[in-house]
Amino acid sequence: LDDLLGEGVSGRRVLVRADLNVPFDKADPSRITDDGRIRAVLPTLITLRDAGARVIVCSHLGRPKGAPDPKYTLAPVATRLGELLGNPVVFAEDTVGPSAKAAADALLDGQVLLLENLRFNAGETSKDDAERGAFADELAGLAEFYVDDAFGAVHRKHASVYDVAARLPHYAGGLVLTEVEVLRKVTETPEQPYVVVLGGSKVSDKLAVIQALLPKVDKLLVGGGMCFTFLKAQGHEVGKSLLEAEMIDTCADLLSQADGRIVLPVDVVAADAFAADAAHDVVAADAIPADRLGLDIGPASVALFAEAIGSAKTVFWNGPMGVFELAPFAAGTRGVAEAITKIDGFSVVGGGDSAAAVRTLGIDESGFGHISTGGGASLEYLEGKSLPGVSALES
Ligand code: 3PG
Repeated sequence: LDDLLGEGVSGRRVLVRADLNVPFDKADPSRITDDGRIRAVLPTLITLRDAGARVIVCSHLGRPKGAPDPKYTLAPVATRLGELLGNPVVFAEDTVGPSAKAAADALLDGQVLLLENLRFNAGETSKDDAERGAFADELAGLAEFYVDDAFGAVHRKHASVYDVAARLPHYAGGLVLTEVEVLRKVTETPEQPYVVVLGGSKVSDKLAVIQALLPKVDKLLVGGGMCFTFLKAQGHEVGKSLLEAEMIDTCADLLSQADGRIVLPVDVVAADAFAADAAHDVVAADAIPADRLGLDIGPASVALFAEAIGSAKTVFWNGPMGVFELAPFAAGTRGVAEAITKIDGFSVVGGGDSAAAVRTLGIDESGFGHISTGGGASLEYLEGKSLPGVSALES
């Protein structure tokens, strides 16, 4: 961004790709439950605004199918962004259409405009280079410079992340720079002992990262829905818990390669239904009743995980330990998060649900070394994959 400021941005139109893909309250779809991703891009927007730029922000929200869908409008995000910036944000009712063009033309120096959801346009996510390119041409036509500060989306080869960079002078925002620096440090030179905590529902989503990290870590602690496929691979019955039957053999292979470094829960909170008011008990991980499903790790597992975490100099955590959104099943995630905040070392929370859990459970954010805004993006970085949004900025 300093390089861009050196160009002189006053009165110039700057397109900023942000990741404003925030969660909403299911009961009240206009209420944002975690505005962390909006806050994370504020420094870049404020810097540009204060330098007199005409700032055009674009983002995706959810996964609409390439056409306008009121369920995924960014309008409530524009309101929240305006509140956080201390000035109302202009909102365009389309992304590159007449409303966006008129609003971009009418922008005053230091004003901020948010375009409607990028994914209301089929070209944004198209696999066809020409279709994506045509949409990128329209986006690029709105501005003179491009800043990518959407770390959460850098793993997507989408028009606004990848193709626009080839069409405008391009710059990395401060958030993208910080995220990449932190993840590079954790990937290339983690101080030992290095402990990774993984949760979330599916082993299949985390398989590549487990394979990439296993040779590097001292301990890999596994909780969340994915632990049940590992427990099954150890020969335990898991009742009605989440299970990926086709991954059982893979989990057995991972356990045999890991030489004791994969640590599984020793107890779980087992419930008779997936509901906040379900009957539930703590049971041993090898004695889950046939009619129950595990919705959290139990207290003995929290103590076991906390001990491993407490001895670490580097911790990377991705994925909740249980269904933290339902109060009876939040203790595992809370316990692990609190243990991470106490380490005498460097910790990274790998975005997505784990970052949302930190904030919704009210855990002191200052206890973590870094809270990433990218769930999938940070995992793909750790897997060693090339990230299209980062390579586009480097070229
Ligand atoms: C995320 O939530 O991880 C990012 O916003 C990317 O969203 P996507 O997985 O729908 O591309």
